[in-house]
Amino acid sequence: MRVAVARETREGETRVAMVPELVAKLTALGHEVVVEPGAGAGALHPDEAYVAAGAVVADDPYSDAGLVVSVQPLARDLARRLASGTVTVSFLPTASELDLVRDYRDLGVTALAMELVPRISRAQSMDALSSQSLVSGYRCAVVCAGLLRRFLPLNMTAAGTVPPAEVVVLGAGVAGLQAIATARRLGAVVKAYDVRAAAAEEIRSMGAQAIELDLPTLEGAGGYAREMTEERAALQRELLAPYVAAADGLITTAAVPGRTAPVLVTRGMVEAMSPGSVVVDLAADSGGNVEGSVAGEVVRIGQAQVWGGRNVPAQMPEPASRLYAQNVLSLVTLLTADGGDGALALDLADEIVAGACVTHDGVVRHEPTARLLDAPGPEGGLA
Ligand code: NAI
Repeated sequence: MRVAVARETREGETRVAMVPELVAKLTALGHEVVVEPGAGAGALHPDEAYVAAGAVVADDPYSDAGLVVSVQPLARDLARRLASGTVTVSFLPTASELDLVRDYRDLGVTALAMELVPRISRAQSMDALSSQSLVSGYRCAVVCAGLLRRFLPLNMTAAGTVPPAEVVVLGAGVAGLQAIATARRLGAVVKAYDVRAAAAEEIRSMGAQAIELDLPTLEGAGGYAREMTEERAALQRELLAPYVAAADGLITTAAVPGRTAPVLVTRGMVEAMSPGSVVVDLAADSGGNVEGSVAGEVVRIGQAQVWGGRNVPAQMPEPASRLYAQNVLSLVTLLTADGGDGALALDLADEIVAGACVTHDGVVRHEPTARLLDAPGPEGGLA
């Protein structure tokens, strides 16, 4: 079967869904890999590297493609050219991509969304949310270190002792834990907080101090955080304020699945930070954990520089693409029938395939998306 590797067209997207290093694994499954010219350029993979790895570079990889892989959702004009039965694999935030989902449904395209792959042990190698969060967390710590005009580690020199920087991390999921680990490796003293019960132990295992607040933990389905009430949010902010004020660097990574990011830090809390402080808000793209942060910009609040993340994994496109491509390869391997001829066998009884499947055979199978499409109003299908 022909696997088309798309050149990303969304602004700022530098990643690619398949890297030359993994092409041979796809061809070994019986697939023919066809890459759109320049697809890997942003991630530092020239067309020649794909050809050397056994792929074909062609202006139109989509005709006759059985599978199209990309990082971002496909552009609608491209999606509309896909034949019925084509399978697409990409991130697909359905709530903001309802028109595309409708196109896929009407065209009979099977759309699999990487962010919907269930986070079960068998699917760990396909977990693109985790792989990209790992990149983001690392990047946040390095950005924080780069913007700070001071050492992170303790320095004891003949000219005196320079104390280490103190970094506070709020939200200790995959990205937060990676930010903690990276800041620790750079020598900072790190304190961190997360609402989940299991988080304190995870924070300590990374060599950081877990901030204990006199508040109940907040856990929802699947071990994820639940949304806070406004009353609890205000109390949490009040209790965290002294930690934020004392920090040289503050990194926020808190998210609640399907919701805008919670505001953990007010403008007033940032204004209380010392001159030269740095705030890195990974959640700026999804509403922001820090009041006043702007995605893709560094703004000044009080005496702090506040960096707002925007598509942060794309800022490290080479490793982010490598990890994402491995996630895609693992999913494609699951979808490929035994026999070596590259035929796809989409087993919708498989928990992973069923979980990731947004549309198939003219039906929207992802129920929350189907409900959104049926809802009246500007976003809905009845509008
Ligand atoms: P996420 O990106 O949805 O959220 C990031 C973090 O923000 C979470 O740890 C969450 O608890 C925290 N948070 C939310 N509201 C907060 C608030 N008001 N104050 C402070 N922190 C807040 O989460 P991510 O990184 O995707 O992982 C979340 C959970 O999923 C973790 O328990 C993680 O261990 C688990 N997980 C499980 C996997 C598996 O079983 N294969 C793979 C990856 C993650």
